[in-house]
Amino acid sequence: MKIAIATDHVGIELKPIIIDYLNELGHEVVDFGPQSTERTDYPLYGKKVAVEVIEKRVDAGILICGTGVGISISANKVKGIRAVVCSEPYTAKLSKEHNNTNILAFGSRVIGSELAKMIVKAWLEAEFEGGRHANRVNMISEIEEEFLF
Ligand code: RB5
Repeated sequence: MKIAIATDHVGIELKPIIIDYLNELGHEVVDFGPQSTERTDYPLYGKKVAVEVIEKRVDAGILICGTGVGISISANKVKGIRAVVCSEPYTAKLSKEHNNTNILAFGSRVIGSELAKMIVKAWLEAEFEGGRHANRVNMISEIEEEFLF
């Protein structure tokens, strides 16, 4: 898979570890920054990766900030994005199987690098189950259409 990754200045410490791990798993990674630990703003990076995913230049996105919350909320503002924040692999797996998430987020202040790798692996290996879950995911899209003002 081709995977876009970005962080903020807090999440950046985990980024090289996750990039190396993704490469080890055989994935191609595109790094959307930042490239320094200088203080920055997570919405910039959540949006960048969300746009890459929605415009289909990558197959999936991974975002890291302090908690994973701000950067995932930002990504979720882009129509069609379903970003999940995970602190354990079970939610990561189910979020793909049931909710067809297209971006995974986590917090560098919340989890360590080994748990982050387990979460990434669980998320990437899981597949959307469709069926009754597809109807619910379509209902999420309908909410987006309902509030276009
Ligand atoms: C930055 O201080 C921090 O707010 C950010 O990394 C993240 O945790 C936001 O949700």
